Amino acid sequence: MRIARFASFGIPHEVTDCVEADDVGAPLDDEVVVEVEAFPINPVDLLTIAGDYATKPALPAIPGSEGVGCIIGVGTDVSNVVPGDRVILMGRDNWMQQRKVKHHQVLKVPHGVDVLQLAMLKINPATAWLMLHQYETLKSGDWLIQDAANSGVGHNIIRLAKTSGICTVNVVRRDALIEPLKVIGADVVVVDGDDLPERVKSATDNAKIRLAVDAVAGDICMRLADCLADGATIVNYGLLSGKPCMLRSDQTIFHGITLTGFWLAKALPKMSFDDITALYGQLAARIGDGSLHVDIEKTYPIEDIKTALAHAERSGRSGKILVTPNGALPAQDHA
Ligand SMILES: NC(=O)c1ccc[n+]([C@@H]2O[C@H](COP(=O)([O-])OP(=O)(O)OC[C@H]3O[C@@H](n4cnc5c(N)ncnc54)[C@H](OP(=O)(O)O)[C@@H]3O)[C@@H](O)[C@H]2O)c1
Repeated sequence: MRIARFASFGIPHEVTDCVEADDVGAPLDDEVVVEVEAFPINPVDLLTIAGDYATKPALPAIPGSEGVGCIIGVGTDVSNVVPGDRVILMGRDNWMQQRKVKHHQVLKVPHGVDVLQLAMLKINPATAWLMLHQYETLKSGDWLIQDAANSGVGHNIIRLAKTSGICTVNVVRRDALIEPLKVIGADVVVVDGDDLPERVKSATDNAKIRLAVDAVAGDICMRLADCLADGATIVNYGLLSGKPCMLRSDQTIFHGITLTGFWLAKALPKMSFDDITALYGQLAARIGDGSLHVDIEKTYPIEDIKTALAHAERSGRSGKILVTPNGALPAQDHA
């Protein structure tokens, strides 16, 4: 069996290799074996391999925050899935051809839905959904603002907001993204700059924006706060700039802006199993009906993990980088 593995922390494409490993073997009574069909390379994976994430695995380690595949073996006590079911992997360490996990670490997803999109279901759509609903009650016609709007999370926020009639201001760092984001439903797309608040006020007719969603941190937080109504919330969920979130005292004191953080790894354990199942069920259905979709720039075999990682490390991509560890998927399994 082939796996991706890193033995030291460092630049992801330099320290990660595709190596041969022992087969996972038969499942124990409460385990399942999944043949992994696809996984995305996410920023969390790059940060983990670099040794810069919140949790540092023991080395050598197998990366992989997500993955989708088919059940090929179940233990005698397993009743939630049967061989042939398609599942997403809810734990980590998934970059391998076969994954053996406890039965409660998989969630069944429907057949007949684009497998490459399902590979990205666990993290970004759920993050977008929860950030849209946990902080401010937005109704049709209300506005939100987000940065890194061309990211996977950004695409999900645009599409989810659109289906609820919520209007979005989307901050990006290059002009070429303006039209593509409008095509998927963005109301306003602006390139970041010192005069961001003035341009946002003009483009939204001085809308009272109560929610900002920030993946960048650093001084863009101050510009986002200057776009917001008094008492609004900034939800920081990423550290793309590598800088601390910055706000001025007048923004927090006189304008009552609240800065808070979101981490899916903390949000999911607070939810009941039924709520988690319902959340992913409705998100999978949205992928199935095409209302949720994230562009993919390229898909690689696991043997090319170094090239795939080097590609994912580059800025200016038009979509996500995915890996299909058991070979390219049949045409009927993806769009
Ligand atoms: N807290 C959570 O639970 C949680 C969950 C999911 C994701 N995240 C975080 O959300 C962020 C996005 O994840 P993703 O999977 O959606 O990413 P992605 O699809 O891989 O896209 C990354 C995006 O980041 C942009 N970017 C990179 N550095 C930037 C910077 N310094 N300033 C502005 N934009 C920058 C890139 O823009 P260009 O095209 O211009 O290069 C690209 O659009 C990451 O920080 C990730 O760790 C957090």
